[in-house]
Amino acid sequence: MNPKHLLPASLREVLRPSYQRAVRTWRESRWSPTPREWLAGRASAWANTSPEALLEQAGTEFGITQVPFEILGLLAKLRVLQPKTIVEVGTHKGGNSFLFCHALSSAERIVGVDLCVQNAAKLIHYARPQQRYFALHGDSQTTQMKARVEQRLAGRVVDFLFIDGDHSYAGVKADFELYAPLVRRGGIIALHDIVADHRTRFGRDTGCYAGEVYQYWAELKARYRNEELVRDPEQDGFGIGVVYVD
Ligand SMILES: C[S@@+](CC[C@H](N)C(=O)[O-])C[C@H]1O[C@@H](n2cnc3c(N)ncnc32)[C@H](O)[C@@H]1O
Repeated sequence: MNPKHLLPASLREVLRPSYQRAVRTWRESRWSPTPREWLAGRASAWANTSPEALLEQAGTEFGITQVPFEILGLLAKLRVLQPKTIVEVGTHKGGNSFLFCHALSSAERIVGVDLCVQNAAKLIHYARPQQRYFALHGDSQTTQMKARVEQRLAGRVVDFLFIDGDHSYAGVKADFELYAPLVRRGGIIALHDIVADHRTRFGRDTGCYAGEVYQYWAELKARYRNEELVRDPEQDGFGIGVVYVD
């Protein structure tokens, strides 16, 4: 039995702010094993409002696999949307999660899913006050994981869903079909790697892998109002496809 469930949910809600404050105080105390450099990094993330500077920090402190033109274009759209609740599938080293937490001041609840969410403790530590980051480790393409995500959403609808997990046709389709129904009307879903890589297009293996996302994206484009954020149509993979949930 999960020890958390020894207390009724209503009491847990009441105690949560004090508990979180205590954990934060402990992590920042002299005796805590939290790496000292995290505090400085977090302070600079909290102070920063420029998406460009935060993207730089996402790369150096976490690691991110995005084309600046594309991810900054997406952030500009999201700053208009002002999402409160975000789900990210395929967090890898956590750079995108970091960006969504810090470049979007509206973000209150961010759920990251990956087979292994790297840098999970650091992402949680960096979260802004009034913001909660949940790292869920496991296969996104299962109804069990969807149930875990819904549990963390606690009845909220999703404003923004980012899909960058399994890049096979079946994988990206499964992620979309499982998580898109959680997104509210007016929300945004973005898929990464909508541009086919050079191996697929020209038979030239460059080490870049964009999988079969482009095939599924062609289907979504026919069904939804959409937009493409692509730096260069000739590029090797990458590209962000934006779906507007009308
Ligand atoms: C291309 S990386 C994501 C890169 C990241 N969005 C970024 O910009 O830095 C794809 C991630 O999807 C994860 N992944 C692949 N299949 C998955 C699955 N079935 N369930 C959950 N995560 C999966 C991998 O572990 C990997 O971290």
